[in-house]
Amino acid sequence: MRLAVNIDHVATLRNARNEQQPDPVTAASIAELAGASGIVCHLREDRRHIKDRDLERLRESVTTKLDLEMAMTGEMQRIALATKPELITLVPEKRRELTTEGGLDVEGQLAKLKKFIPPVRDAGIEVSVFIEPERGAVDHAAEAGADLVELHTGPYSLKKNRADILAELDRIRTAAAHARESGLRVVAGHGLNYYNIEPFSTIRDIEEISIGHAIVARAALVGMESAVREMLRLINAPS
Ligand code: PXP
Repeated sequence: MRLAVNIDHVATLRNARNEQQPDPVTAASIAELAGASGIVCHLREDRRHIKDRDLERLRESVTTKLDLEMAMTGEMQRIALATKPELITLVPEKRRELTTEGGLDVEGQLAKLKKFIPPVRDAGIEVSVFIEPERGAVDHAAEAGADLVELHTGPYSLKKNRADILAELDRIRTAAAHARESGLRVVAGHGLNYYNIEPFSTIRDIEEISIGHAIVARAALVGMESAVREMLRLINAPS
């Protein structure tokens, strides 16, 4: 299983003092050298962490795969078409949220998705849609013309007792299998950390995991290289 590293919160730390350090672009390079298969950044409408210039610099330096997380707006579509990341991930975005709070309403936004996705794919950029791990959401993402789905693991990460954790894992496993059968590639992310990641190493239909906060938090104390290597060890633990 591969690991994509989201470096947004390196920018959060930098922005706390309006200075240049730590640099998310340097963090991305170290994550790649440590084995990350991709770098993820979310350019938010309010630019609270990653800024436009960071995205330009990431595009120049990322050699694995750049995944631009973004809301489905005209502004973001223009930026994606100009920057040409390998992949965009469409997420819902609310101004007041601390982080992305749920999957995209793919059913309600189906008509918009069907218009939004083709010009992006025509430009050679793959499109992933962040969805709840549900059969209907998978079907709508396939109908919208996405290449991949990213299954939302936030609810899994919040479960406290074993029965609830196993039930949520089962929901993710089932949705992943259905997505693969529907011709979609599958990744997963949100809220995953060093303590809840291990069961994912057994879900073969998921090809990549996307992790931000937990890796950046550990990197602040032990360094990005160790933080990435340790997570890779866990997601590829023998089952
Ligand atoms: N996937 C998506 C779609 C996200 O919006 C985020 C948060 O930016 C992540 C993965 C990473 O989540 P976390 O920071 O909790 O690892």
